[in-house]
Amino acid sequence: FAQNKPHDYRPKYHYTAPKNWVNDPNGMVYLDGEYHLFYQYNPFGNVWGHMSWGHAVSKDLKNWETLPVALPEFDNADGTQTMIFSGCAVIDSMNTSGFFEKGFTKGMVAIFTSHIEGKAQHQSIAYSADKGRTWKRYDKNPVLDLGMKDFRDPNVIWYPEKQVWIMTVVKPLEYIAQFYESKDLKKWTLLSEFGKQGDMTKIWECPSLTKVPVEGSTETKWVLMISSGHRQKDYLAMQYFVGDFDGKTFTPQKQNEILYVDEGKDFYAAIPFNNLPKSHAKPIMIGWINDWEYAREIPTGDTWRGGFSVAREFSLKKTTDGLRLVQQPIIQLKNAQKAAFSVKNKVVDGTYEVPFKGEVFDLTLEIQPQEAKVVTLNVFQSQGEATAIRYDANTQELSLDRTRSGQVNFHPRFSSVERVKVPLKDGKLKIRLLADKSILELFAQDGEHALTEWIFPTKNEGGITLTSEGGKAKITTLSVHTVR
Ligand code: FRU
Repeated sequence: FAQNKPHDYRPKYHYTAPKNWVNDPNGMVYLDGEYHLFYQYNPFGNVWGHMSWGHAVSKDLKNWETLPVALPEFDNADGTQTMIFSGCAVIDSMNTSGFFEKGFTKGMVAIFTSHIEGKAQHQSIAYSADKGRTWKRYDKNPVLDLGMKDFRDPNVIWYPEKQVWIMTVVKPLEYIAQFYESKDLKKWTLLSEFGKQGDMTKIWECPSLTKVPVEGSTETKWVLMISSGHRQKDYLAMQYFVGDFDGKTFTPQKQNEILYVDEGKDFYAAIPFNNLPKSHAKPIMIGWINDWEYAREIPTGDTWRGGFSVAREFSLKKTTDGLRLVQQPIIQLKNAQKAAFSVKNKVVDGTYEVPFKGEVFDLTLEIQPQEAKVVTLNVFQSQGEATAIRYDANTQELSLDRTRSGQVNFHPRFSSVERVKVPLKDGKLKIRLLADKSILELFAQDGEHALTEWIFPTKNEGGITLTSEGGKAKITTLSVHTVR
């Protein structure tokens, strides 16, 4: 017999490395028309190991060009190796570090965790005068060492009010984020600590502290993001705290509030870009698409494993419960897209077969459930297979069900359903679904909720249907764009 050709899961508009394993995005920074995405990378295989910084650049946050490894793992004199764990990059335009020539404004400095397996984690720096193409490690590394085995993921921002750099870094096993300041990126002084609250079901990793605009006002607030546990036990997700930062201490708007950035299983370790041009009014982040629970086993084939979300801008919205994060994908789709199909004011009673088939699309649906008890959008549908996005009008729950999405048995924890409470607005549910071969990024009610997940369909029929159960529902608008 002819062997079944393995399904091609490689996304078209989400960045994946040409080969090998990737995890966290690192060193995201903008310089001179280029967005830099560095990332945790194993140059030698498609499982975790030999962690180094891979590198890709983009001019439009959609098309990425892969560059050679930026910061490789290296050998130490005592026979051990130092891996380059997660971290960030800044543009040292005032040469505060003294690494660059006088007057040079485009120096890039990477701040990362230097990891010696089983022995130590400390923070180190490296610098580049050629836009991240070649790097030199600082000869007096590490720059911050507490003598701990778990102390990692520095994220640095410029804090103009004090003319200092502020680093947020975590003690993962203690659920503590620490804030440090520095004038030169080399000498760091502890300012304060925040933690022991929020989601503590998993260790804390990859923190970031960002000043974020509040919608409909001129205010800003600070958002502290931490990669940690998921609402569903023993999965991973990201949580955030909203509050104030006075250059020393982070004070949350509410004690012990637990808020999640993305309610899917596969959005982790996102950090925001540094040094964005003024034309971006809002901060932008990119996350790693995966969950450590099964990340090593996702069935993407022998070549590559792991990927990155599209760039998302984020802001805060006032609600009666306090400020909440909202996110919008910005993949500059406008000229990259072709409207494939659209319909307005269509009543659905039973099953409506959407006259579009595909695995790479951007779909917008605005629907009034009206008399329907449940409405379901099935995507990647073929005989016996579908990923179901369901809205239950009684419980006001939006769910993303991948239990019948295709390959689910490669790991016992993969098959799952997410449920999120999403109240209707003026009787309507609005969703945007970015689908890309094996990645789904689902946004509801204009980015108030986000759910990101892998799916591994075994057939590529890519059918889409919309079903109403228990009565009629009305589609106000449904449009599907192909993404090129
Ligand atoms: C998060 C993480 C980080 C660490 C990196 C190692 O996914 O565990 O805490 O720096 O991955 O690859």
